[in-house]
Amino acid sequence: MINNQWYAILSSHKLKRGKVVGVRRFGENLVIFRTDNGQIGCVNSLCAHRKASLAKGCIQDDHVKCPFHGIEYDVSGKCVYVPSEGRASTQDYTRFRMKNYPTKEIGGIIFVWYGDKEPEGEPDVFDVITDSSYAYDHIEDTWNVDYSRVIENQLDVSHLAFVHHNTIGRGNKKVCNGPKVVWLDDNTMQTSANNEIDKGQTPKSSEAAEIKSTNLTFKFPNMWLNHVTDKLLIFAYFVPVDDEHAIIALRFYNKFTGIKFIDKAISWLGSRANKIVERQDKRIVETQIPKKTAIAIGECLVAADLPIMEYRGKRDRLQKSGK
Ligand code: FES
Ligand SMILES: [Fe+2]
Repeated sequence: MINNQWYAILSSHKLKRGKVVGVRRFGENLVIFRTDNGQIGCVNSLCAHRKASLAKGCIQDDHVKCPFHGIEYDVSGKCVYVPSEGRASTQDYTRFRMKNYPTKEIGGIIFVWYGDKEPEGEPDVFDVITDSSYAYDHIEDTWNVDYSRVIENQLDVSHLAFVHHNTIGRGNKKVCNGPKVVWLDDNTMQTSANNEIDKGQTPKSSEAAEIKSTNLTFKFPNMWLNHVTDKLLIFAYFVPVDDEHAIIALRFYNKFTGIKFIDKAISWLGSRANKIVERQDKRIVETQIPKKTAIAIGECLVAADLPIMEYRGKRDRLQKSGK
């Protein structure tokens, strides 16, 4: 993990008002809850009292209530009521304070701040997730690898002709020009597949290669956008569950007709296609060892792996800086 970052961790549609959801994130069991007035809280799942899981709890008076002895916590993780002590209690319950993760909700995604510092600014998001001119459909799947493997697969331009030979990688384009990698800002890198049929040519260097209008952009720590055309964008975020599990959330955005229900139907169909491609990737990536990546893990990388190297390098610098 990279500390002190906003991570996209849950789709808003999974957290209705008045609901408590138990999830595993960052190798820790958490509960995320939405109070009746719409506030979102995220705390460690184990109740401070006798460690029952709040995942089996419910919302009461804008607090999450433990199912065991009814202790209540507010969205900041502060204990606000211990039933056995009575409503009139004036005791200090500071020792009950739960480990809490600050939350933000943007574009139908819940973000949490993971780190030891106070949150810095807002999550850095792609504009499309808040652009209401697009319709989208959302799917997700769990992979048995660390989220870094899932991210790197989405930055891998040389697997297309093999893993996806009968879908998005049709055409036998095995030779990879570049790829070029550009940093759009400190947090955002862009690349693009620029592959060709092997006719005996030498691939272009990264410098000579270009970013095409169909391109891939990655935002640290865990979001990715495939800009296919201005009207069709495939967006993903990669949820860290633990060192051996991640969730890939994939959204198909489009505004082909500008008529919401038709665009929504197109996105639904697009998600079916996304699912086929995603399963092709999953089948192979789940075989990679180690399940979590780092700068030096004994791989023999090639020029086409430049986006992966850039990702690893930046992640390593962020991890070392404690950010
Ligand atoms: S374990 Fe939660 S109230 Fe007792
Ligand atoms: Fe793929």
